Amino acid sequence: MHTSAQLSTKESAPRIQQGLLGVLAGETSISKVDGEQGRLTVRGYSLEHFAPRFSFEEAASIVLWDRTEETFESRLRSERALDSHTVALLQAAVALGSSPMDALRMGVCSLSTSGDLTKDIFSVIAKTASITGTICALSQGGQVSQAAFAEPSHAGFLLHLLKGRASSPAAIRALNTYWNTVMDHGFNNSTFTARSVMSTGSDIVSAVTAAVGSLKGPLHGGAPGPALELIEESKARGNVEEVLREKLDRGERLMGFGHRQYKVRDPRAEVLQAAVRELASDDEAREFYSLSEEVERNAVSLLAEYKPGRKLHANVEFYTSILLKQLGVEPSMFTPLFACSRVVGWLGHCLEQIEVGKLIRPDCVYVGREAS
Ligand code: ACO
Repeated sequence: MHTSAQLSTKESAPRIQQGLLGVLAGETSISKVDGEQGRLTVRGYSLEHFAPRFSFEEAASIVLWDRTEETFESRLRSERALDSHTVALLQAAVALGSSPMDALRMGVCSLSTSGDLTKDIFSVIAKTASITGTICALSQGGQVSQAAFAEPSHAGFLLHLLKGRASSPAAIRALNTYWNTVMDHGFNNSTFTARSVMSTGSDIVSAVTAAVGSLKGPLHGGAPGPALELIEESKARGNVEEVLREKLDRGERLMGFGHRQYKVRDPRAEVLQAAVRELASDDEAREFYSLSEEVERNAVSLLAEYKPGRKLHANVEFYTSILLKQLGVEPSMFTPLFACSRVVGWLGHCLEQIEVGKLIRPDCVYVGREAS
C-alpha cells in the first residue's frame, strides 16, 4: 500500500489540456481551419474554390509546393507499380482476413525510400493508391486490373482498380472533388502523428505508416462507414428520429457529427453535399440523398437536445459516406480512400517539419508513486 503522501496529487499538478485542446503546437502554411466561422483555406484558396476546381494532381502539387507542376501527373503515373514483396504481403494480409486499413498500413510500411525525397514523395502518393486498389481487388477475389495502370489520372486509376473497369468523367470529377476536400486540415491527429515521427529525423515512409494507424480510429478517419450505417438503418426502419434517439439513449455517438474545431457546420460537408447532389443521376440516388438530408436535420436537432451547448453539426465524414456509396465504393474501403488523399497533406507537413528541424517532445506530469 502507498500512502497519499507518496502519491503526486492532481491538485498539485500544473493544469493539463487533455487531448491538447486549443494547444498551439506549431505553424503551417498549408491550410487554415476557422472553426468558429466554418471556413477552410488551402494555400490561400477557399475550399469552395479549391476542391471542385482542381484535379487531384493540381491540388496535390499546390498543397506540397504551393504551385502547379506540369509533370506531376506523369511523375505520379510512373511510380504506380508495386514491388513483388508488397503484393505478396497484401495477398497474405487479405488471405488472413486483415481489415483494409490494417492491410494498407502493412503495404505502406513495406515501401522503401531512395534518398531522393521528391521521387519518394511521388512514390508514396502513387503507391498508397496502388495498395488501396490492390487490397480491394484481392478482397473481392478478383484480379488486379493491369489496364488501370494506363489510366492518365490518379482518380481514374484508383476507380479502375476498385471497379475493374474505367469510370465516367463525372465519377472521376467527384472523386477529385472528394480528395481535394480532405487533402489537408491543419494539425489533425494523423498529420500531427506524421510530423511527430518526422521530427525525430526519421523518413517519410515511417511517418506515413504511423499516420495511417492514426487515421484508422473511429474518432478520426474511421467514421464514414458507421455514418453510412446510420442512414441505411434509418432507411430500413423508416423512422429517422427513432433510430437516432435509440442510439443517443444508449449513450452512443452519432458518427459523422461533431468536430474538435468546427462549432458550426463543417465547410467540407457543404462542398461534398454539392458533389453528392450533382452525382445523383437516378431516382434511387436522389431518394437516398433526400433521406441523408433528413438524417442530418434530425441529428443536429437531437444532438442539441441531448448535448446542449456542445454545438454538434455534420462533419466531413457524413457526406463522404454518401459520395463514396454513390461511386460504388465498398464501406470497408472508405478510410483507405481517405488516406489516398490525406497522404498528400501528411507529406506536405513532413516537408514543413523538416524545415522546422526541431524534435517534438512534449512534457508530462508524473502522477505515479514517488521513490520511498
Ligand atoms: N454524438 C453524440 N455526442 C457527441 C458527438 C456525437 N457525434 N460528438 C461529441 N459528442 C459529445 C460527447 O459525448 C461529449 O459529451 P459530454 O461532455 O456530455 O461527455 C461532448 O459532445 C464533447 O465531446 P468530446 O469527445 O469531448 O469532443 P472532441 O472535440 O474531443 O470530439 C469528435 C470530437 C471526436 C470528432 C467527436 O465529435 C466525435 O466522436 N464524433 C463522432 C465521430 C466522427 O464523426 N469522427 C470524424 C471526425 S472528422 C475527421 O476526423 C476527419
